[in-house]
Amino acid sequence: MTTDSTRTDAEMWDDRYRESDRIWSGNPNVVLVREVEGLGPGRALDLGCGEGADAVWLARWGWHVTATDISRVALERAAVHAAEAGVADRIDWQWHDLGASFPEGEYDLVSAQFLHSMGDLPREAILRRAASAVAPGGVLLIVGHAGFPSWEHDHPEMELPTTDEVLASLELPEGEWEVLLSEEHERIQNDPDGNPTTRTDNALKVRRRPADR
Ligand SMILES: C[S@@+](CC[C@H](N)C(=O)[O-])C[C@H]1O[C@@H](n2cnc3c(N)ncnc32)[C@H](O)[C@@H]1O
Repeated sequence: MTTDSTRTDAEMWDDRYRESDRIWSGNPNVVLVREVEGLGPGRALDLGCGEGADAVWLARWGWHVTATDISRVALERAAVHAAEAGVADRIDWQWHDLGASFPEGEYDLVSAQFLHSMGDLPREAILRRAASAVAPGGVLLIVGHAGFPSWEHDHPEMELPTTDEVLASLELPEGEWEVLLSEEHERIQNDPDGNPTTRTDNALKVRRRPADR
Protein backbone atom coordinates (compact mmCIF):
# COMPACT_ATOMS: atom_id res chain seq x y z
CA MET A 1 0.00 0.00 0.00
CA THR A 2 1.11 3.51 -0.61
CA THR A 3 0.65 4.67 2.97
CA ASP A 4 3.77 2.88 4.21
CA SER A 5 6.28 1.76 1.61
CA THR A 6 8.16 -0.47 4.08
CA ARG A 7 5.22 -2.84 4.46
CA THR A 8 3.79 -5.14 1.84
CA ASP A 9 0.13 -5.05 0.84
CA ALA A 10 -0.32 -8.41 2.57
CA GLU A 11 0.99 -7.00 5.84
CA MET A 12 -1.14 -3.88 5.53
CA TRP A 13 -4.31 -5.93 4.89
CA ASP A 14 -3.43 -8.28 7.76
CA ASP A 15 -3.13 -5.25 10.05
CA ARG A 16 -6.45 -3.94 8.77
CA TYR A 17 -8.14 -7.25 9.62
CA ARG A 18 -6.48 -7.39 13.04
CA GLU A 19 -8.13 -4.07 13.95
CA SER A 20 -11.18 -6.03 15.11
CA ASP A 21 -12.57 -9.54 15.28
CA ARG A 22 -14.78 -8.86 12.29
CA ILE A 23 -14.51 -5.90 9.93
CA TRP A 24 -17.31 -6.82 7.47
CA SER A 25 -20.92 -7.61 8.32
CA GLY A 26 -20.74 -11.38 7.96
CA ASN A 27 -23.59 -11.25 5.45
CA PRO A 28 -23.12 -12.12 1.79
CA ASN A 29 -23.08 -9.19 -0.61
CA VAL A 30 -26.60 -8.29 -1.69
CA VAL A 31 -25.88 -8.16 -5.42
CA LEU A 32 -24.13 -11.52 -5.32
CA VAL A 33 -27.18 -13.09 -3.69
CA ARG A 34 -29.56 -11.43 -6.14
CA GLU A 35 -27.57 -12.35 -9.24
CA VAL A 36 -26.53 -15.87 -8.30
CA GLU A 37 -29.75 -17.24 -6.81
CA GLY A 38 -31.04 -18.13 -10.28
CA LEU A 39 -27.88 -19.95 -11.33
CA GLY A 40 -27.41 -23.64 -10.75
CA PRO A 41 -24.53 -24.47 -8.43
CA GLY A 42 -21.20 -25.30 -9.99
CA ARG A 43 -17.60 -24.16 -9.51
CA ALA A 44 -17.18 -20.63 -8.14
CA LEU A 45 -14.14 -18.42 -7.66
CA ASP A 46 -14.30 -15.55 -5.14
CA LEU A 47 -11.56 -12.95 -5.66
CA GLY A 48 -10.63 -10.92 -2.57
CA CYS A 49 -12.92 -13.02 -0.40
CA GLY A 50 -12.10 -11.22 2.86
CA GLU A 51 -13.75 -12.91 5.83
CA GLY A 52 -15.55 -15.35 3.59
CA ALA A 53 -19.25 -14.45 3.88
CA ASP A 54 -19.82 -14.78 0.12
CA ALA A 55 -17.90 -18.05 -0.15
CA VAL A 56 -19.80 -19.54 2.78
CA TRP A 57 -23.13 -18.44 1.29
CA LEU A 58 -22.21 -19.96 -2.08
CA ALA A 59 -21.12 -23.21 -0.46
CA ARG A 60 -24.40 -23.38 1.45
CA TRP A 61 -26.15 -23.21 -1.91
CA GLY A 62 -24.13 -26.15 -3.17
CA TRP A 63 -21.32 -24.38 -5.01
CA HIS A 64 -17.78 -25.70 -4.86
CA VAL A 65 -15.82 -22.58 -4.09
CA THR A 66 -12.25 -21.48 -4.48
CA ALA A 67 -11.82 -18.35 -2.38
CA THR A 68 -8.71 -16.24 -2.40
CA ASP A 69 -7.30 -13.23 -0.61
CA ILE A 70 -3.98 -11.51 0.08
CA SER A 71 -4.61 -11.52 3.84
CA ARG A 72 -3.83 -14.71 5.72
CA VAL A 73 -5.62 -13.24 8.74
CA ALA A 74 -8.80 -12.90 6.69
CA LEU A 75 -8.42 -16.39 5.22
CA GLU A 76 -7.96 -18.02 8.63
CA ARG A 77 -11.03 -16.19 9.91
CA ALA A 78 -13.02 -17.19 6.82
CA ALA A 79 -12.07 -20.85 7.27
CA VAL A 80 -13.42 -20.74 10.84
CA HIS A 81 -16.71 -19.28 9.56
CA ALA A 82 -16.95 -22.04 6.96
CA ALA A 83 -16.35 -24.73 9.58
CA GLU A 84 -19.01 -23.20 11.83
CA ALA A 85 -21.43 -23.22 8.88
CA GLY A 86 -20.63 -26.86 8.12
CA VAL A 87 -19.38 -26.15 4.59
CA ALA A 88 -15.62 -26.40 5.07
CA ASP A 89 -15.40 -29.34 2.67
CA ARG A 90 -16.79 -27.25 -0.21
CA ILE A 91 -14.37 -24.32 0.02
CA ASP A 92 -10.73 -24.26 -0.97
CA TRP A 93 -9.08 -21.20 0.64
CA GLN A 94 -6.06 -20.02 -1.32
CA TRP A 95 -3.61 -17.24 -0.55
CA HIS A 96 -2.75 -15.15 -3.60
CA ASP A 97 -1.50 -11.68 -4.29
CA LEU A 98 -3.66 -11.57 -7.39
CA GLY A 99 -1.32 -9.20 -9.16
CA ALA A 100 1.33 -11.91 -9.02
CA SER A 101 -0.50 -15.25 -9.03
CA PHE A 102 -4.00 -16.52 -9.74
CA PRO A 103 -5.92 -19.69 -8.83
CA GLU A 104 -5.78 -22.49 -11.38
CA GLY A 105 -8.91 -23.78 -13.07
CA GLU A 106 -12.08 -22.88 -14.89
CA TYR A 107 -15.22 -21.67 -13.12
CA ASP A 108 -18.96 -21.33 -13.74
CA LEU A 109 -18.96 -18.19 -11.62
CA VAL A 110 -16.13 -15.76 -10.99
CA SER A 111 -17.04 -13.08 -8.46
CA ALA A 112 -15.11 -9.94 -7.56
CA GLN A 113 -16.95 -8.05 -4.83
CA PHE A 114 -15.38 -4.74 -3.90
CA LEU A 115 -11.93 -5.80 -5.03
CA HIS A 116 -10.46 -2.43 -4.13
CA SER A 117 -7.23 -1.59 -2.40
CA MET A 118 -5.15 1.42 -1.53
CA GLY A 119 -2.24 -0.83 -2.30
CA ASP A 120 -0.62 -1.85 -5.53
CA LEU A 121 -3.60 -3.67 -7.07
CA PRO A 122 -3.48 -4.06 -10.88
CA ARG A 123 -7.25 -4.39 -10.94
CA GLU A 124 -7.78 -4.27 -14.69
CA ALA A 125 -5.23 -6.99 -15.36
CA ILE A 126 -6.67 -9.13 -12.56
CA LEU A 127 -10.19 -8.78 -13.93
CA ARG A 128 -9.00 -9.70 -17.45
CA ARG A 129 -7.42 -12.80 -15.93
CA ALA A 130 -10.70 -13.42 -14.10
CA ALA A 131 -12.60 -13.35 -17.40
CA SER A 132 -10.23 -15.90 -18.86
CA ALA A 133 -11.05 -18.24 -15.96
CA VAL A 134 -14.78 -18.29 -16.78
CA ALA A 135 -15.97 -21.56 -18.34
CA PRO A 136 -18.21 -21.55 -21.43
CA GLY A 137 -21.71 -20.62 -20.25
CA GLY A 138 -20.27 -19.18 -17.04
CA VAL A 139 -20.64 -15.77 -15.49
CA LEU A 140 -18.28 -13.04 -14.32
CA LEU A 141 -19.80 -10.73 -11.68
CA ILE A 142 -17.90 -7.57 -10.73
CA VAL A 143 -19.29 -5.29 -8.04
CA GLY A 144 -17.48 -2.17 -6.93
CA HIS A 145 -17.81 1.21 -5.31
CA ALA A 146 -18.66 4.10 -7.62
CA GLY A 147 -17.30 6.72 -5.22
CA PHE A 148 -15.88 7.33 -1.78
CA PRO A 149 -18.15 7.62 1.25
CA SER A 150 -18.64 11.05 2.77
CA TRP A 151 -16.59 10.14 5.86
CA GLU A 152 -13.49 9.12 3.91
CA HIS A 153 -10.91 11.15 2.05
CA ASP A 154 -10.55 10.41 -1.64
CA HIS A 155 -7.75 8.03 -2.48
CA PRO A 156 -6.72 9.04 -6.01
CA GLU A 157 -4.61 5.89 -6.38
CA MET A 158 -7.65 3.65 -5.89
CA GLU A 159 -9.48 2.75 -9.08
CA LEU A 160 -13.28 3.20 -8.93
CA PRO A 161 -14.29 2.75 -12.58
CA THR A 162 -17.76 2.84 -14.07
CA THR A 163 -19.20 -0.40 -15.42
CA ASP A 164 -18.58 0.85 -18.99
CA GLU A 165 -14.93 1.38 -18.11
CA VAL A 166 -14.70 -2.06 -16.51
CA LEU A 167 -16.32 -3.66 -19.55
CA ALA A 168 -13.92 -1.90 -21.93
CA SER A 169 -10.91 -2.88 -19.85
CA LEU A 170 -11.92 -6.55 -19.91
CA GLU A 171 -11.22 -6.58 -23.68
CA LEU A 172 -13.71 -9.42 -24.20
CA PRO A 173 -13.54 -10.99 -27.65
CA GLU A 174 -16.35 -9.79 -29.91
CA GLY A 175 -19.34 -12.16 -30.03
CA GLU A 176 -18.11 -14.50 -27.28
CA TRP A 177 -19.73 -12.70 -24.34
CA GLU A 178 -23.06 -11.11 -23.49
CA VAL A 179 -23.71 -8.36 -20.98
CA LEU A 180 -26.46 -9.46 -18.56
CA LEU A 181 -26.29 -6.52 -16.18
CA SER A 182 -24.60 -3.12 -16.09
CA GLU A 183 -25.97 -0.87 -13.37
CA GLU A 184 -25.20 1.75 -10.80
CA HIS A 185 -27.20 1.42 -7.57
CA GLU A 186 -27.47 2.99 -4.17
CA ARG A 187 -27.43 1.23 -0.83
CA ILE A 188 -27.52 2.27 2.78
CA GLN A 189 -24.37 1.87 4.82
CA ASN A 190 -23.73 3.07 8.35
CA ASP A 191 -20.96 5.61 8.82
CA PRO A 192 -18.40 5.05 11.62
CA ASP A 193 -20.80 6.73 14.09
CA GLY A 194 -23.56 4.28 13.15
CA ASN A 195 -25.62 6.78 11.14
CA PRO A 196 -27.13 5.40 7.92
CA THR A 197 -25.76 7.04 4.77
CA THR A 198 -26.23 6.35 1.08
CA ARG A 199 -23.41 4.85 -0.97
CA THR A 200 -23.28 4.33 -4.69
CA ASP A 201 -21.94 1.07 -6.08
CA ASN A 202 -21.97 -0.51 -9.50
CA ALA A 203 -22.30 -4.00 -10.90
CA LEU A 204 -21.34 -5.68 -14.14
CA LYS A 205 -22.42 -9.21 -15.00
CA VAL A 206 -21.21 -10.80 -18.21
CA ARG A 207 -21.66 -14.33 -19.48
CA ARG A 208 -19.34 -16.28 -21.73
CA ARG A 209 -21.50 -17.80 -24.45
CA PRO A 210 -21.64 -21.59 -24.32
CA ALA A 211 -19.38 -23.41 -26.76
CA ASP A 212 -21.09 -24.46 -30.04
CA ARG A 213 -22.36 -27.98 -29.92
C1 LIG B 1 -12.83 -4.10 0.25
S1 LIG B 1 -12.34 -5.73 0.71
C2 LIG B 1 -13.69 -6.73 0.09
C3 LIG B 1 -13.81 -8.06 0.78
C4 LIG B 1 -15.00 -8.93 0.34
N1 LIG B 1 -14.97 -9.25 -1.07
C5 LIG B 1 -16.31 -8.28 0.71
O1 LIG B 1 -17.03 -7.84 -0.19
O2 LIG B 1 -16.60 -8.19 1.92
C6 LIG B 1 -11.03 -6.07 -0.48
C7 LIG B 1 -10.37 -7.42 -0.25
O3 LIG B 1 -9.38 -7.60 -1.27
C8 LIG B 1 -8.23 -8.16 -0.69
N2 LIG B 1 -7.08 -7.81 -1.53
C9 LIG B 1 -6.50 -6.60 -1.65
N3 LIG B 1 -5.46 -6.65 -2.49
C10 LIG B 1 -5.38 -7.93 -2.93
C11 LIG B 1 -4.51 -8.64 -3.79
N4 LIG B 1 -3.49 -8.01 -4.41
N5 LIG B 1 -4.70 -9.96 -3.99
C12 LIG B 1 -5.72 -10.61 -3.36
N6 LIG B 1 -6.59 -10.00 -2.54
C13 LIG B 1 -6.42 -8.68 -2.30
C14 LIG B 1 -8.18 -7.58 0.70
O4 LIG B 1 -7.41 -8.33 1.61
C15 LIG B 1 -9.65 -7.53 1.08
O5 LIG B 1 -10.05 -8.70 1.74
